[in-house]
Amino acid sequence: MKKVSFAAFGGPDVLRLIDAEEPHAGPGLIRVAVRAAGVNPADWRVREGQVLTAHPVELPAGVGLDAAGVVDEIGEGVDGVEIGDHVFGEGTGTYAEFAVLSAWARMPEGLTFEEAAGYPSVVETALRILREVGVEPGQTLLVSGASGGVGSAVLQIARDRGVTVIGTAGPANQDYLRELGALPTTYGDGWTDRVRALGPVHAALDLAGSGVVPELVALTGDPHKVVSIADLTAPDHGVRFSGTAGSVPAALAEAAALITRRALHIPVDTSYPLADAVAAHTDSQSGHTRGRRVLII
Ligand SMILES: NC(=O)c1ccc[n+]([C@@H]2O[C@H](COP(=O)([O-])OP(=O)(O)OC[C@H]3O[C@@H](n4cnc5c(N)ncnc54)[C@H](OP(=O)(O)O)[C@@H]3O)[C@@H](O)[C@H]2O)c1
Repeated sequence: MKKVSFAAFGGPDVLRLIDAEEPHAGPGLIRVAVRAAGVNPADWRVREGQVLTAHPVELPAGVGLDAAGVVDEIGEGVDGVEIGDHVFGEGTGTYAEFAVLSAWARMPEGLTFEEAAGYPSVVETALRILREVGVEPGQTLLVSGASGGVGSAVLQIARDRGVTVIGTAGPANQDYLRELGALPTTYGDGWTDRVRALGPVHAALDLAGSGVVPELVALTGDPHKVVSIADLTAPDHGVRFSGTAGSVPAALAEAAALITRRALHIPVDTSYPLADAVAAHTDSQSGHTRGRRVLII
C-alpha cells in the first residue's frame, strides 16, 4: 500500500510517499481502507520530534491520527461494527491507504469521508477543554484562536450549551466566527480592549499559543478559569495546560449526535491528495486556517 512516512525528524520535506506493508487489526482494533485523513498540528509536531513524551516515535514512522474510511478488518474481541461500515475515528499512520483504528464510530448520515476525517481529535479536544474550564450556560467564554479546527468545534459546542462566545481570529475570518455564532474580534494590538468592549469574560481558552495567557488571566480575573492547549508556559501563570486526551469513543458519539441534529459542522478549508502531504504540513504550520485540512486517499 501507499503511505506517508518519515525516516528522520525535520521539516515537511522529510515526508515521503512510500510503498509499505499493510497493517493488520490486532485484538480490540479495526482496520479501515482510509478515504480521508485529518491533518492536525500534532502531526507536524510529531514529525519535528517536538512531543516525544506524549507521542513516542520509532523511526521510520507513519503520520496521522484521524481518519474516515471503510471497515475492512475487525480484530478479535471487537463487536458492534461490520465489514463495509463507514466509520470515522482515531488510530495511527492514517496518511495511508489502510490504517488501524483504536477508537471509531459510524459516520453520521450525509457526512462525506472528507468532512468526517476532520472531526475526531478536534472534537475530543473541544469537549475536554470545555469540561476543564468549567464554563456554565449564560456565561461568556473567550476563545483565542477561534477559527481553526479546535476553535470551530469549541464555538459551536459552547453555543449549543447556551454559552456566549467571544472569538479572536484574523481579519479574513471575522464573518466565519459570526456564522458559528460567536462575537468576533481580531487578535493583535488593542485586542484586550476590543474584547472588553464586547462584555465581561467568565472563562477563556488559549488555542493559538500566541503568548496571551497573562491577558486571558487578567480578562477572567482567575487563572483557574483559563485553559491552554498550545502554550507550555501556561502553568507559570497558574493556568492549566491540557494535553492528555480524554475518551475518544465518547467524543465520537457526542460528535455524531451533534452533527446529526445539525448543531455542529466543521468545514474543510483545503483538501490535498495523499501525495501532497508536504504541502498540507507546510500550510498547517502557517498557523492560519478556517476549519480543517484533510488528505484525500
Ligand atoms: N494539547 C492538546 O491536547 C491539543 C489538542 C489539539 C490541538 N492542540 C494545539 O492547539 C493549537 C490549535 O490547534 P488547531 O488544530 O485548532 O490549529 P489550526 O486549525 O491550525 O488553527 C490555528 C488558529 O489559530 C489562529 N491564530 C493564528 N495566530 C493567532 C494569534 N496570534 N492570535 C490568536 N489566534 C491566532 C488562526 O486564525 P487565523 O487563520 O484567522 O489567523 C487559526 O484559526 C495547535 O498549536 C495544536 O498543536 C493541542
